[in-house]
Amino acid sequence: MSKKRIVVLTGAGISAESGIRTFRDGDGLWEEHRIEDVATPQAWQADPMFVWRFYQARRRQMLEVEPNPAHKALADLAARHDELTLITQNVDDLHERAGNTSTIHMHGQLKTLRCEESGRTEIRLEEHELIDEFLTCNCCAVAQRVRPDIVWFGEMPMYMEEIYAAVEACDIFLVVGSSGHVYPAAGLVNVAHSAGAKTILVNLEAPINADAFTEVHLGKAGEILPGILEQFR
Ligand code: APR
Repeated sequence: MSKKRIVVLTGAGISAESGIRTFRDGDGLWEEHRIEDVATPQAWQADPMFVWRFYQARRRQMLEVEPNPAHKALADLAARHDELTLITQNVDDLHERAGNTSTIHMHGQLKTLRCEESGRTEIRLEEHELIDEFLTCNCCAVAQRVRPDIVWFGEMPMYMEEIYAAVEACDIFLVVGSSGHVYPAAGLVNVAHSAGAKTILVNLEAPINADAFTEVHLGKAGEILPGILEQFR
């Protein structure tokens, strides 16, 4: 077993072949929605029902898709490699369903909902919890409205301390399917580079931060990632 410490950061591109639209590709989610209308705390304040329904639709869709060979190849490598940290910007649960149980979700998760009062999160994926009407929490004496457990623009990504510690200590930093537009995730390659790690990118097209990587593989993750991961087995 290799002793190299590997950190993998995934983005929307890894779930594209499962049928979940990315954000910034031609047919991406942000083509049809303004980020400010659905993915900010201000949007939630101004029109919570619109935001709620946007995320409820995404939660329902998540249950209809399956992990693809890229998710499976990463889960397979993680099972054989005890020094692998998987960080995702994705809010779907496809890494978990492929077998990666310790995925770090820096931008939150669709499967959980968060109480607005206590901040507690709970898995809420029963059929009656996927409706277009608001839901309330199971934690407060007087049930409070819950919000999507998503990190919106203007909010702090989750687990940053743990993430920086892993990236600063890694030997290999691999990014799969991310356009490099959203910070701090997009800046992690620089942290890895400063720490002396080899930085590898697997993406359909060259993203804006492609120059920051020592090795770039262009193509569909489901098709090329399994072969690229062979070197780490
Ligand atoms: N395989 C590999 N890469 C792909 C594939 C594929 N099959 N399909 C698309 N891609 C690439 C695109 O070329 C693009 O560079 O995936 C990238 C997806 O970029 P974005 O849509 O910007 O997604 P991401 O980088 O994950 O976005 C970051 O932005 O809106 C927020 O919070 C949201 O976590 C998200 C963050």
